[in-house]
Amino acid sequence: STASLLILAGDGIGPEVMAEVRKIIDWYGAKRDLAFDVSEDLVGGAAYDVHGVPLADETMAKAQAVDAVLLGAVGGPKYDTLDFSLKPERGLLRLRKEMDLFANLRPAQCFDALADFSSLKKDIVAGLDIMIVRELTSGVYFGEPRGIHKEGNERVGINTQRYTESEIARVARSAFELAKKRGNKVCSMEKANVMESGILWRDVVTEIHAAEYADVELSHMYADAGAMQLVRAPKQFDVIVTDNLFGDLLSDAAAMLTGSLGMLPSASLGLPMENGRPKALYEPVHGSAPDIAGQGKANPCACILSFAMALRYSFDQGAEADRLEAAVNQVLAQGIRTADLMQAGDTAPASTSQMGDAVIAALDAS
Ligand code: NAI
Ligand code: MG
Repeated sequence: STASLLILAGDGIGPEVMAEVRKIIDWYGAKRDLAFDVSEDLVGGAAYDVHGVPLADETMAKAQAVDAVLLGAVGGPKYDTLDFSLKPERGLLRLRKEMDLFANLRPAQCFDALADFSSLKKDIVAGLDIMIVRELTSGVYFGEPRGIHKEGNERVGINTQRYTESEIARVARSAFELAKKRGNKVCSMEKANVMESGILWRDVVTEIHAAEYADVELSHMYADAGAMQLVRAPKQFDVIVTDNLFGDLLSDAAAMLTGSLGMLPSASLGLPMENGRPKALYEPVHGSAPDIAGQGKANPCACILSFAMALRYSFDQGAEADRLEAAVNQVLAQGIRTADLMQAGDTAPASTSQMGDAVIAALDAS
């Protein structure tokens, strides 16, 4: 059956960058006989404006039924004063929660054309291609007990780091499965030296590895040492798997290895559906960028690269994902760049749609 995609463009620059992805999806249908059954719907402030909620029940049901969801961005100043439960972000959180998207994939990839753009030394980042898998639905952000209460005459703030065996096992499996499609190497990071949950994490990852993925290379690192290694010599890693808190920090740090927010894709995966594909949501890391929205300045690459991740991880089109990433690299190498990627001495920046058109042209030539 035809692969199905739900597009939720959202707010601000979301629809602008998604329009460029639409061109690329259409290109695949016309030129590569890789057709997608695409539907579009509203999320975030755009959904609130029409339905009075940031994600309508019908949209939630559609998201559950498709092979993959592609999301732009949500939020904007217009919605900042809304009730907490109506805020645009709640639409995204509802998707993640009800689809049970427990594995957050954040690649840190350095395109050759941008090796000079990074704040780090070129030889440290050139050719970098690593993937951080962050557990997204459990851990210290959710564990009970939590709260602020009074002990004697002072206040105490409490959060609980809590992981069940099955929560660790499923995210470990996601990481091993990914590694098989990449460099066949997983590094698991925790703090087993000082945390009980870290000891369990290391045990469960080791057990899953021995029982199901013995052919994948596994190593373990304390997360603090891992942070150091990530900045010192990031190319030693392929897939890193870690908990929600450490993953939050490590993935933001890794993001800056390679440069602009406008270049960073992400995926959030859940359990396999009946057809074997994981529940999946793909989105750029950036937000709705109200400061540049509506001006044709947004870099569409993060959203385009999110679609490349969908090709690779939902639709088993690894070769096409490689082709799309190579097209992006080629466009950057030609000096066609949006304003966020400009350096001193560069000429006029490309607009959002010029960037998208250039990627299509590079695909045509590939
Ligand atoms: P942001 O990511 O929207 O923007 C941060 C800075 O990066 C801005 O200067 C922006 O112009 C720039 N930028 C972001 N994406 C870019 C792109 N594709 N091309 C060129 N420049 C880009 O984060 P900010 O400003 O903190 O939040 C703005 C709104 O977005 C807020 O309402 C926030 O809640 C929401 N947000 C939504 C996210 C999501 O939908 N997943 C994630 C982060 C923020
Ligand atoms: Mg973060």
